[in-house]
Amino acid sequence: MNLLQVERARRWVGLGLLVGVVGTTAWTLSPGVPVLWAPQASEPAKQSGLALFNRDWQSPADKAQAADATAEELRLAKLKVGPVFNASSCVACHFDAGVGGAGPNTVNVTSFTILPTTANPHVQEGTVHRFALSDNTQETVDLVRRLYSKPVQVAGNQSLTPQQRQDSNPVRVTAVNTPALFGAGWIDRIPSKAITHRYFAVGMKEVAANLSGDFKQTVPMGRYRILSDGRVGKFGWKAQFATLEEFVGAACANELGLSNPKMQRAKPLAGAKDESAVAAPEKTASLSRKEFGVMVAFVDTLPRPIEAVSRDSATRAAVKHGREVFSSVGCAVCHQPDLGGVKGVYSDFLLHRLREKVAASGYYEPPPMPLPEEHPDLDEWKTPPLWGVADSAPYMHDGSAATLEGAIEDHLGDAKSVTQAYKRLPGDDQAALIAFLKSLKAPPSAIPAPQAESHALASVTTP
Ligand code: HEC
Ligand code: HEC
Repeated sequence: MNLLQVERARRWVGLGLLVGVVGTTAWTLSPGVPVLWAPQASEPAKQSGLALFNRDWQSPADKAQAADATAEELRLAKLKVGPVFNASSCVACHFDAGVGGAGPNTVNVTSFTILPTTANPHVQEGTVHRFALSDNTQETVDLVRRLYSKPVQVAGNQSLTPQQRQDSNPVRVTAVNTPALFGAGWIDRIPSKAITHRYFAVGMKEVAANLSGDFKQTVPMGRYRILSDGRVGKFGWKAQFATLEEFVGAACANELGLSNPKMQRAKPLAGAKDESAVAAPEKTASLSRKEFGVMVAFVDTLPRPIEAVSRDSATRAAVKHGREVFSSVGCAVCHQPDLGGVKGVYSDFLLHRLREKVAASGYYEPPPMPLPEEHPDLDEWKTPPLWGVADSAPYMHDGSAATLEGAIEDHLGDAKSVTQAYKRLPGDDQAALIAFLKSLKAPPSAIPAPQAESHALASVTTP
């Protein structure tokens, strides 16, 4: 190589580096590639997935008696789910407005959190399953308290310090309501970068406003959830899963007790050491890779919710005005209308606190030993997407609000200033806002859910 060639080579390397640095910086600062295509799956895959979603795993006996039952059906008919589970089909909970919809409070799931204690600084979480195959393995809230509480003794008439109180009873229990799964595949495709990019963009705006002397109280920013492996959480009320596939795996394992390629079936809390408590694998059902694949494909391609256009011109006008009020009053700060190329999802996928952090209010007492930074606090919940909200009552993570108005009233904490602004609105504006929310409907193409009786839990013994 002569000098000229070396010089040229250096230039190319330099240019390459520059392009690399500029490119990386631009990519880092960009909101990622927006979602361009609808989730896809073949028709047979969707049909098989639907059958698995609707399948009642606890009462396949009728099929066993049917004359035309195949050997495979007979084998399946003998299998049970469990050893612990919350229902015997997915559709037993996800059925409002069609297969994959939201669920009523009667099928709420009971979750527990074990707060850090002096003896065990790790947070533990789990589900108190409603049903068990045997009495030995039946779980109850009382059982969780017995397993995890260690009474702390103090001398004489001394009272417990907050830490001792937490040590002696670290168990917190909450009900979680079933959300609708319509459009889940779209949410799955929203790039994490769209969430973090928007978060930082909002932060920069705030800094700029502060620098220009504008310190008016705005809505606290919340935070995105970083999972233990560094990914951004999107699914679940606590943004506890990054992908739809993983959530479906967890739902199979945890709600139904179905092992699958992503997760082993839930083990009973009670008698976990007792061999007989864990159902023998050959007697319990599990999903093959193929079955799990079609189950995911079905949920992934559930149609997305719609914004209904009323035939009545007065309603149309109210909805249009309500959409403006939604933005102007501040709902859209958290319920971001479009994200990552997905229009009308109405969420920032960030964790926020909607409860007052005042112990005296009786609402929420901050734990003396706080949860680790990466773990959402007890009062932090992900902003739920509002698409389809007209058809997903009751509202809030625990289903505590029966109506849309009630849900808005429950927005304190981070959303307090917005709720106060909503309350100051003239009645017409409030009504328009509600009319807008009522236009956010489940997809009309949703498949009607099987009759409630056919997926009722009557066949299972209740605790
Ligand atoms: C006992 C009722 C119940 C059953 C049965 C059930 N689910 Fe759920 N589902 C819930 C609840 C409650 C949540 C919210 C859980 C949370 O966020 O902690 C949920 C959340 C989900 C989510 C996450 C939705 C989101 O946007 O965050 C998916 C996906 C899901 N379920 C799929 C399934 C599948 C697939 C099945 C069947 C294998 C199933 N569920 C069975 C109650 C149920
Ligand atoms: C600070 C962020 C924030 C603001 C501002 C906000 N929300 Fe929310 N919203 C949330 C969070 C977080 C939840 C879930 C809280 C929970 O489950 O405890 C929620 C829940 C809801 C729900 C219940 C949805 C469901 O599926 O259960 C509705 C309806 C709702 N918000 C509407 C509104 C409206 C209307 C406004 C404006 C008046 C508004 N929100 C302002 C964060 C916000």
